[in-house]
Amino acid sequence: MEHKYKYGFATRQIHAGHDKNTYGALCPPIYQTSTFAFGSVEEGGDRFGGAKSGFIYTRLGNPTNELLEKKIASLENGEAAAVTASGMGAISTAIWSLIKSGEHILADETLYGCTFDLIQHGLRNFGVEADMIDFSDIEKVKQSIRPNTGIVYFETPCNPTLKIIDIKEVTEAVRSIKKDIIIIVDNTFATPYLQRPLEMGVDIVVHSATKYLNGHGDVIAGAIIGSEEIISQCKKHGIKDMTGAVLSPFDAFLINRGLKTLDIRMEKHCRNAQKLAEFLHGHPAVKKVYYPGLPDFSGHETAAKQMKGFGGMISIELNADKKRTAACINALKLVAIAVSLGDAETLVEHPASMTHNAYSKEELEAAGISEGLVRISVGLEDIEDIIEAFREGLDELI
Ligand SMILES: Cc1ncc(COP(=O)(O)O)c(C=O)c1O
Repeated sequence: MEHKYKYGFATRQIHAGHDKNTYGALCPPIYQTSTFAFGSVEEGGDRFGGAKSGFIYTRLGNPTNELLEKKIASLENGEAAAVTASGMGAISTAIWSLIKSGEHILADETLYGCTFDLIQHGLRNFGVEADMIDFSDIEKVKQSIRPNTGIVYFETPCNPTLKIIDIKEVTEAVRSIKKDIIIIVDNTFATPYLQRPLEMGVDIVVHSATKYLNGHGDVIAGAIIGSEEIISQCKKHGIKDMTGAVLSPFDAFLINRGLKTLDIRMEKHCRNAQKLAEFLHGHPAVKKVYYPGLPDFSGHETAAKQMKGFGGMISIELNADKKRTAACINALKLVAIAVSLGDAETLVEHPASMTHNAYSKEELEAAGISEGLVRISVGLEDIEDIIEAFREGLDELI
């Protein structure tokens, strides 16, 4: 699908949304204000009622956030976007704006831990049913659609196993059973530079903009991208009345700044991750490497079909028990032990005890998250230094 925007990706990541109307400022100013003054009571009433356009109060809209929304919508090739205070703010806003009590959500079983917790445990308290299954089994996906299924939800690549789900195949299978289901994809691991799910038939893309979109590890933020109608519902109902997950204009400014280099950052994340994955694949202390760029990885072909590059995330399983695995991670130099991803710094974490802590032992097993799994967010340092850090740590295990 062709994008409807005039310029290419790199041009849009720099220019989209900024009209330079503000004293010609090359970099957009930050409208760090909670509220906007009206000329009269009548004007205020007209803005609230929709008869006149204009800003009212930052929870309902802000020029700095609007610029970022236009930019992210254009990069994902969507009609509109809403930015939020966190990735979970985006996910919960999208789901709560669009699901009703008595409806059913069908989700893949490997999701970021808090999304899993929201769908599997949290929403049940509000009468929303949920099934979590393996979306690589397309027949199972079809069989699991119910008359009351309102939302289908998945990530690809999945956090933390990097499982790849065929976006087009799932979308077509779901629509062949029931047309009016809203399909949501979390595109955090890939970013719109590597993969654009809306072009493959999905209705909504969500992001933790905390990660690659901002890219510098200094904000918590999220985004929802979709049709004008869906985004209007998410803003006017979801963010305004339910979650209140409004992004600070200062953070919107930082993400707008980070986005200007998204393509070159992603190119280097991909290059570094490919080289590190190949090194880890050949190391005797490593039992398994999960990276879509390795030809023997199960999702390699699908990833090559739907992504422009294989991303900056790797997971590994070591030939070691939990204690030795932890000792190996603790001893790594240069690399920080931290959750989050997509930063300039290389980060490692232990999903079973950290990001996926909300999963029970059985749920971890079903999702393929073992006690020995280590997740790596490959940074932008010199690859020789990253490899050396892992070589030193892993050699201790031989
Ligand atoms: C794939 C994915 N989606 C959503 C989130 C939640 O984002 P945030 O931490 O910005 O709320 C995360 C966080 O790690 C994530 O990895």
